[in-house]
Amino acid sequence: MSLQPASPADRSLWVPPAILPPDRDPHPAVLGLRTFQDQIRGWSRSLYFEDAWRPMPGTPLFVTQPEALQTLFVDQAQDFDQGAMFKRMFRVVWGRGVLTADEASWRWQRRASAHAFRPTTLSALAPRIAAQAETAIDGWLSPRRKRPLDMRQAVTALTFRIIIDTMLSGDAYFDAGRMQQRIATFFEDVGRLRISYFLMPDRYHATRPDATSRHRAPLLREIRAMVAARREAPPRGDLVDLLLAARDPETGETMDDALIADNLLGFILAGHETTSVGLTWALYVLAAHPDTAARVRAEVRAVAGDGPLTGEHVDALVFTRQVMSEVLRLYPPGYLVTRVAHRDCELAGHRVRAGSRVNVPIYAAHRHRSRWTDPDAFDPDRFAPGAPPPGRHVYLPFGAGPRICMGAAFAMMESVLILAAVARRTDLAYAGKKPPVPRAGMTLWPADGMPLRVTPAQPA
Ligand code: HEM
Repeated sequence: MSLQPASPADRSLWVPPAILPPDRDPHPAVLGLRTFQDQIRGWSRSLYFEDAWRPMPGTPLFVTQPEALQTLFVDQAQDFDQGAMFKRMFRVVWGRGVLTADEASWRWQRRASAHAFRPTTLSALAPRIAAQAETAIDGWLSPRRKRPLDMRQAVTALTFRIIIDTMLSGDAYFDAGRMQQRIATFFEDVGRLRISYFLMPDRYHATRPDATSRHRAPLLREIRAMVAARREAPPRGDLVDLLLAARDPETGETMDDALIADNLLGFILAGHETTSVGLTWALYVLAAHPDTAARVRAEVRAVAGDGPLTGEHVDALVFTRQVMSEVLRLYPPGYLVTRVAHRDCELAGHRVRAGSRVNVPIYAAHRHRSRWTDPDAFDPDRFAPGAPPPGRHVYLPFGAGPRICMGAAFAMMESVLILAAVARRTDLAYAGKKPPVPRAGMTLWPADGMPLRVTPAQPA
């Protein structure tokens, strides 16, 4: 396994820590064993150079060819679904909600909740997100803090508070701290199960119980009590109200409390974990690359001075957004998206049989040697206005097609606001003994946390 990234052609570019393709593929069995340690470490070198790879006959096809992804995600999306394994993993949280709903029910549920993610709705949420960020930074800068902060935990706590505050109008009707703890335990459990999930053919999962279901009842109890209380309370114009009012335009069906709770739990989970992974890496970049931190700080001070950040500032924070886009390229929290074929077909020159799995290794697609210049280097200017945009399905941190992430715009807005707020007020320094290493578990966390020293920045 290569430990040194290839030097970028542009020598001035910084190459941050990464899981890199092996210099030479070992025996497939060895690669297979590596997946026990880490999914991405079990991927072939060819994934970073070619269009597709199948580890062994009968195993899932991995594909990054943009034309094949157009087929999979868009043109023939109806012939591929997430499969039984995915549903078994995520039904525990989402129940019958958007993420794991079957086609017919998914469509109207997605439409019903989409209003919460419209640009005008989002822009109105920006000041609340910024205020939560400022409160968190106050705590990070506390003079009583003697040790480095574990930024992974600190940012997860922040994104959790933000999703509760923006989508559910706060935690007046449930214990948010307890819920966050339960969600963390759920993630650990799913992370542990990962390998057994991937080893078995998809049809095996169709008949198996949800293996982490012990988490479901206590999580749902809290949310259902909240939904019941909100039915009696005046509307607040948030996601809860949208779901309470939702109606399938074709059948007239509405959401019962159980389905609303499924969706809320799902949105809480999907809406904070991935965002916090991206932000944790972005804050590492600010700590490890002072030029970037200085550019972000200069931009936010020019755009907003010392005043509160709002939705209008978000569009003007152009470079900050470029940084976030580049971080999501190098460290995509959803590093692998998976589908199961409903019928026999061909993708990137490989046969795919009905019932077999197709994996889209987003991490490898984002570092593909023939589709990116200096693929391992950090270069936010590749996303600058006027730079040639990445080709279709070459950059896909939020997936693609009808199932594309519903929260993409929310996540970007939130990340830009937090990054700007942190860069404006703090100096960050990485305090680990060795550079952080990404580990592909449920998402792409730094393996040993993210210890950062946080000190106040010089005022402008
Ligand atoms: C940086 C942050 C995020 C990343 C990288 C991310 C990534 C993704 C990806 C890759 C998918 C597609 C999965 C597939 O095709 O199987 C997805 C779906 C989804 N995401 Fe996100 N996500 C993020 C933040 C959010 C947020 C903030 C929310 C909600 C508040 C959210 C809600 C959803 C939902 C509901 C789906 C399922 C959509 C459907 O099946 O129709 N995500 N996300």
